[in-house]
Amino acid sequence: MPTSNIPVITIDGPTASGKGTVAHKVADKLGFHLLDSGALYRLTALQALRRGTPLSDEHALAKVAEHLHIGFTGEAIFLSNENVTDAIRAEEVGNTASKIAALPAVRQALFGLQLGFRKAPGLVADGRDMGTVIFPSAQLKVFLTASVAARAERRYKQLIGKGISANMDDLLMDLKARDDRDTHRAIAPLVPAEGAHVLDTSDMTVDAAVEQVLHWYAAVGK
Ligand code: DC
Repeated sequence: MPTSNIPVITIDGPTASGKGTVAHKVADKLGFHLLDSGALYRLTALQALRRGTPLSDEHALAKVAEHLHIGFTGEAIFLSNENVTDAIRAEEVGNTASKIAALPAVRQALFGLQLGFRKAPGLVADGRDMGTVIFPSAQLKVFLTASVAARAERRYKQLIGKGISANMDDLLMDLKARDDRDTHRAIAPLVPAEGAHVLDTSDMTVDAAVEQVLHWYAAVGK
């Protein structure tokens, strides 16, 4: 099957909108592969922080992205054979990922890697620019969103659940700053793709959101 015929569902949206969880479940239900593109920016950020790469050095950061040794096994994520599943979720890593994601050379360095995830029988791709830039030919495009308050509360519960202390005011401030950076950057900004179905999950359970996406997918091409 030519790659362009392999089905892709893109799920884009702001941070903590629940898109990661929804994407995982949709991929499981359909038996599709999963691309967590945010993890690639987080892995680049983690590696750069560890190496002390200056966040002002776009060329050096692109080199870091280009030479990542990554592995995805089930839900676990590896960097050079080290399990970094939890390490890449730290707030500092997320904030750094958002900063370096605004750099064109970094995005370019991760471009081909992302296309390579399009494999039979299909792919669910989650991120910010999956439907707009990476997979514009996707069969279904979803833009998942939720109010800032709902997202901050989810992030708060997630962190507390992991035994990490969190402060609601700081979380709200961080979320707004990250939204602002992701939405207003010059390259591949966070916007719904043309033809995307917008789903506001503020008052929705994860399962209801998953059902809605599957329902839209079942209707594709009909
Ligand atoms: O989805 P996430 O929170 O794991 O993503 C971390 C950061 O990576 C996010 O703040 C912006 C960036 N990102 C991006 O620019 N493009 C993507 N496709 C995915 C993530």
